Amino acid sequence: MSEEPSFTPRVFSGIKPSGGLTLGNYLGAIKRFVDWQEAGTHETIYCVVDLHAITVWQDPAVLHSATREVAAGYLASGIDPTKSILFNQSQVSAHTELGWIFSCVARMGWMNRMTQFKDKAGENAEKASLGLYAYPALMASDILLYHATHVPVGEDQKQHVELTRDIAQKFNHDFKVAFFPETEPVIEGPATRVMNLRDGTKKMSKSGESDMERINMTDDADTIAKKFKKAKTDPEPLPESMEDLAGRPEAKNLVDIYAGLSGRTDEEVIAEYAGAGWGRFKPALADLAVEKLGPISTEMKRLMADPAEIDRILAHGADQAREIAEPILSETFRIVGLVGR
Ligand code: TYM
Repeated sequence: MSEEPSFTPRVFSGIKPSGGLTLGNYLGAIKRFVDWQEAGTHETIYCVVDLHAITVWQDPAVLHSATREVAAGYLASGIDPTKSILFNQSQVSAHTELGWIFSCVARMGWMNRMTQFKDKAGENAEKASLGLYAYPALMASDILLYHATHVPVGEDQKQHVELTRDIAQKFNHDFKVAFFPETEPVIEGPATRVMNLRDGTKKMSKSGESDMERINMTDDADTIAKKFKKAKTDPEPLPESMEDLAGRPEAKNLVDIYAGLSGRTDEEVIAEYAGAGWGRFKPALADLAVEKLGPISTEMKRLMADPAEIDRILAHGADQAREIAEPILSETFRIVGLVGR
């Protein structure tokens, strides 16, 4: 008989409130979170990871409102608090408690390999916060505190979810238990790495220098149209096949975005627009983006006008999250040999 424990099918994922939400966050994360919620095959838990945000400096007032803005982004996109658990990380102190234990399980050498730390700390790693370095241990605790089996993320988070598996494995091995699951990263769909609109070799991010390089979920229709119109492309029209997009990062990015927004595959988009020039494709893309993002941004503004309601939803989600987390944390303490919880 197998001794493998079976885990409740459960999805966990999170977004940092370290700036406004971008089209990358929407296509690479939130839209897919809604799909998991609606599929109904897994319990779904979504978090605003405010403790991760403070690994780099955040103005307190800005952090406070960005936390609500990310919550509003989730809700406006279709995360339904009666179907999913939605909360902010700092309200559930078990995250930091398990995060400490995982800091003692993870090895320095593992952390040294994290490309995101290297990117973020840059040349001045000596001046980076200790929290930025330990970031992946806290992320592993976010996931494993709920025994999450699946973690939908964009491509940039793959290494962190793999590290989460390493931590689970080492914990289970060191303490001779089969307590934590080996969580699967789920990186699917055409838009798991949305690129910068001015430089197709860089990721679209909330912290990029120029606003023209990203679409924000709160941009209005004119701004969206202007940004796509000015997006960098090459002189060639769209080709007949995806293979012919190789070496054309900006062109591929716009096709990926179109596919992500329309719920189609890259191949289907290429089939429709083969031979089209940018003068035809860009306005079609802008119209689609306005059609999909317009109602979300309107709803975000409506929600943001009632912060008390957002806070109420987050507090309720935190209560639900604690109910799952507490027994798992207590059992972890017992396994480790800590007295009293
Ligand atoms: P964050 O806040 O940087 O991004 C949130 C989610 O959005 C995805 N994403 C993108 N996807 C496609 N193209 C892009 N340009 C793009 N930019 C961002 C990210 O991959 C992510 O899925 N460490 C995480 C937050 C986190 C977390 C977790 C995630 C903390 N704990 C536990 C999952 C599970 C982060 O910084 O994401």
